Amino acid sequence: MKLFLQEVSLGLSKKNKKLNSKWFYDFYGSKIFEQITNLEEYYLTRTERKILQDNKIEIANKIGTNAVIIEPGAGDIKKIGIFLDNLDKPKKYIPLDISDNYITKIAKGFKKKFPNVAITPKGYDFSKNNKLPFKINSSENIIIFFPGSTIGNFEKNDAVKFLKMLKSKFKAKKIIIGADLVKDIPTLISAYDDKKGVTAKFNKNILRRINIELGGDINLNFYKHLAVYNKPKKRIEMRLKSKRNNNIRINGSKYFIKKNEEIHTENSHKYTIRSFKNLANEAGWKINKTWTDDKKLFSVHCLDLAL
Ligand code: AVJ
Repeated sequence: MKLFLQEVSLGLSKKNKKLNSKWFYDFYGSKIFEQITNLEEYYLTRTERKILQDNKIEIANKIGTNAVIIEPGAGDIKKIGIFLDNLDKPKKYIPLDISDNYITKIAKGFKKKFPNVAITPKGYDFSKNNKLPFKINSSENIIIFFPGSTIGNFEKNDAVKFLKMLKSKFKAKKIIIGADLVKDIPTLISAYDDKKGVTAKFNKNILRRINIELGGDINLNFYKHLAVYNKPKKRIEMRLKSKRNNNIRINGSKYFIKKNEEIHTENSHKYTIRSFKNLANEAGWKINKTWTDDKKLFSVHCLDLAL
C-alpha cells in the first residue's frame, strides 16, 4: 500500500485526527508554498535571506573548502545562491525534496544560473529512515544546509533524532540551520493566516491530494483553515476545522468527521536562541555561531560536531 494512503488512513482513524505536514508538498503544494514565502505577513523567508546575505562571507568561511552541500527539503532552492559565489571550490550541491518532479524542475533553472557548480537533485523523504539516494564519502567536507525553519516541523524528540541522524547517516561535519524565533503572538498568527488566504489554500492542499491521489471525495468547502498558537509548546499549529458533519470515503474506507472537529495538519515550533542551543547540544552538536536580524525575528546557526 502507498505510504500516503497508509498514513492518511491511520491519521483519520485517530480520536485526535492528524495528517503529517510533509504531504503538503506535491508539485502544486510546493508552488503554493513558494507564494507563501512572498507574502507580506510571512516574515520568515525574507528575514532569513537577509541574514544569509548580510553574513555571507562569514558563512562561506565556516563552510570551508571543497564542500559537499546537502540540503534536505530544498524546495525552490533560492537560498544557497546567496552565498554560493563566496564558497571556496564547492564540490557538489545535492538538493533533496519530497517532491521529485518539483526539485527536478527547479534544479534545471539552477543549472543555468550556476553552470560551474555540480548539482544532483534527488527526490527524498528525509522524515523516514530511507536509504540515501546517493553515496556518502565520509572523508569529504559534508555540510548540511537546512534553512527555512523546516526543523520547526519536528516535535522536539524527532528534531533531536533528525540532528543525530545528520551525523550518523549523512556524516555531516557542520550544519547551517535556520530556526524561527519565539515572538509576539499576533505576528506569529498572521504569518500563518494571511489575508489573501494563500496559507488556507496550502493547508487544504492535503485534502486535495487525498481526493486526487487516493480517490477521496472530501468537499474542501466544508473545511476552514485555522492557525493557533500553542503557548506551552511554543508552536503554531495548523488545523482544518470541519464546518459540518460529513462522511468521507477514501479508497473504499469510510470516515466520519463531526461538525467542529479538527484535523491537525502542521506544527511549526518556535525557538529561543537558548532553547535551540539546548536542542543542538542534546543531539551532539555545539553552536559555533548564531546570526540574527535586528528585530530578532529569525535565527541562523552554524553547528559543529560536539566531541
Ligand atoms: C516550510 C515548514 C518552515 O512552518 O513556517 C508555511 C511551512 N506552513 N506556512 C513553516 C508553512 C504554513 C513552513 N516551513
